[in-house]
Amino acid sequence: MSDRKYSRMMCDKTKFHHIIESMSESSDSEFVEPRVWRVQHLAQAKRAGRKITMLTSYDAITAPIFEDAGVDTILVGDSYGNVCLGHKSTLPVTLEDMERATAAVARSTTRPLIIADLPFGTYEGSPTQAFESAARLMKVGANAVKLEGGEARVASVSLLSSSGIPVVGHLGFTPQSENTLGGPRIQGRGSERERLLHNALALQEAGACLLVLELTPADVAAEITEALDIPTIGIGAGPHTSGQVLVWSDMAGMTDWTPRFVRRFAELGSELHNAASDYCEAVKTGSFPDSNHYHAK
Ligand code: KIV
Repeated sequence: MSDRKYSRMMCDKTKFHHIIESMSESSDSEFVEPRVWRVQHLAQAKRAGRKITMLTSYDAITAPIFEDAGVDTILVGDSYGNVCLGHKSTLPVTLEDMERATAAVARSTTRPLIIADLPFGTYEGSPTQAFESAARLMKVGANAVKLEGGEARVASVSLLSSSGIPVVGHLGFTPQSENTLGGPRIQGRGSERERLLHNALALQEAGACLLVLELTPADVAAEITEALDIPTIGIGAGPHTSGQVLVWSDMAGMTDWTPRFVRRFAELGSELHNAASDYCEAVKTGSFPDSNHYHAK
């Protein structure tokens, strides 16, 4: 984006709805559905106005189901800690945890682009630390890594992307900073808006190929999406991003509570509960196994 366009937008924020209109019309090229998603398809999808789909997965049982269902990109998020490991936040997740989950997803899929989160404490120290951690995730099958933060990450993003590691940025509410942000709260309102846009542009300039925007007002996400050449993926950031991501267990209704921005596309938690309870009953009453399920001799 040219400086002129940027400063014009900053002077006239109230016109964001025109931006949104032009975004839905802008399809300057046809998008050919790739057999295997690679990093260049992200920008191509944005240019063609084709929304990008992303779900989290951490294992070899859900990942191929999501691949079959047509998901473009799988995020091996550090939400792994909350969803699968019983942690209350993403902070305790280790690089070894992420290596194991990423390897499982990579072994069980071929088409989606696999993005692995760099966990807290494995990249913030220096660009070299970020490179060494990211390289470990790439070695087990990630196609890109995601890290949280803006300007402070520019040197790392630049080193990684110039070393053959595609980088996904993450701005807005960044769960690894929940202690400084004071919990999961909307980010980018009022005076924070310009800082968020500035950080987004800085990540793009450093070489990021994609940007996740979490818990930002929809108009801010729209403005950032318009300002960037790279695509944005929203979670709790409204409909005007280049694509959407949800944590799979929220999307599938695995738990009792879901955040407001999540739509439960199924009620798998109660389905699974019923299946397990029918199984227990069948074992206790002796109706399972019946003669269909074993060999007498
Ligand atoms: O770890 C994760 O699942 C994420 C998403 C919430 C974007 O980072």
